[in-house]
Amino acid sequence: MTSGPVTGTRPLRVVLGVGGGIAAYKAAELLRRFSEAGHDVTVVPTRAALHFVGAATWSALSGKPVSAEVWDDVADVPHVRLGQQADLVVVAPATADLLARAASGLADDLLANVLLTARCPVVMAPAMHTEMWQHAATRANVATLRSRGVVVLDPAVGRLTGADSGPGRLPEPAAIFEACREILAGQSADLLGRTVVVSAGGTREHLDPVRFLGNRSSGKQGYALAATAAARGASVVLVSANVALPDPAGATLVRVTSAEDLRQAVHAAAAGADVVVMAAAVADFRPVSVQGHKIKKDDAGGVPAPIALERTADVLAEVVARRDAAHSAQVVVGFAAETGDAGGSVLDHGRAKLARKRCDLLVVNEVGDGRGFETDDNEVVVLGADGTSTTVPRGSKAAIADAVWDRVAALLPSTAARHR
Ligand code: CTP
Repeated sequence: MTSGPVTGTRPLRVVLGVGGGIAAYKAAELLRRFSEAGHDVTVVPTRAALHFVGAATWSALSGKPVSAEVWDDVADVPHVRLGQQADLVVVAPATADLLARAASGLADDLLANVLLTARCPVVMAPAMHTEMWQHAATRANVATLRSRGVVVLDPAVGRLTGADSGPGRLPEPAAIFEACREILAGQSADLLGRTVVVSAGGTREHLDPVRFLGNRSSGKQGYALAATAAARGASVVLVSANVALPDPAGATLVRVTSAEDLRQAVHAAAAGADVVVMAAAVADFRPVSVQGHKIKKDDAGGVPAPIALERTADVLAEVVARRDAAHSAQVVVGFAAETGDAGGSVLDHGRAKLARKRCDLLVVNEVGDGRGFETDDNEVVVLGADGTSTTVPRGSKAAIADAVWDRVAALLPSTAARHR
């Protein structure tokens, strides 16, 4: 997580809009992150939000007067000035009502006025019950806002108020902050209107109900790819295999366990997608048979029976084959964790794999000696099918992800070409 300024050196004017949902209290954590990064934050709650967290709390935390109304401090014209002067407007939580008011251009409270007068990036982090999020009215409002350039993050999936659970949870404040950082870093919206699929984590092949063959992939790089793509405006499906990380803001999560689960989820999401990035470590072999009961020591007279393995499908190669069969311009990206050996260097193996898998880009990283797995930093070379090679120096997984998206964005057909 980046703890420095959101971007650049100058403190930014941030308007933090707070909608009237139970997640309003989480906006306090977002406020803290922006303030600690040195930015000037004005909190603009809706009237409904003040039922959940009072003006005194926002005022004390931000060090500024707080109002939901256009009639306070009129001489200073805050209903116009706040939006005009903002470098960023971030709304968390954005309720169904607030999304509807923003989409219709209403100006019935101070926050709605700010949204109409802002000419800076606007990020909305929705939170509501699943039924409300999935309602056709909300879907249409979100589509309208996105078509106007507003970054509407997808809500996280999980526990909601009461016993409910499903899509509708406010993304973690850290994830919202990171999305804002990415947007302000000037890379916003170059993936707007694109659909991307990212696989992340490591698959597990069960031997019995308690044991599996797995691998060390933490999913950090794949999650960073999903978060940065969402922050750059893409609609993201994240196929996540056994990852213990917070849901990244703005991605639709599909959880899988085995290589076969992942294969089906990736193919379902990849049909019609602009980009598929296979960052997951997918098992190459699985046990021929899975025992329905826990294998006991005594089953084979105290000696474990040899485990017979069979090959799994190569998902990346299948995605490329389907793309080619459909004559689509989909960009397909593979990952390769390599070590050099007597047969060749890390890059020799990478180039051979790129040719074998026939993807457009292969992100190669050297593993071993504490590199690559379970770390926060990474260092990669992005090989292109066109013979190009881009070295991305050691940096955070978010920085590596952005460098990968820069290469992908350059390969995408222009939006105009897609509509011809
Ligand atoms: N991959 C896949 N399906 C598999 C295995 C790998 O889609 N069954 C994808 C990975 O997600 C990655 C790329 O293929 O994007 C390369 O994975 P890697 O394990 O390095 O390649 P392998 O084909 O397994 O090559 P090898 O084991 O020979 O190095």
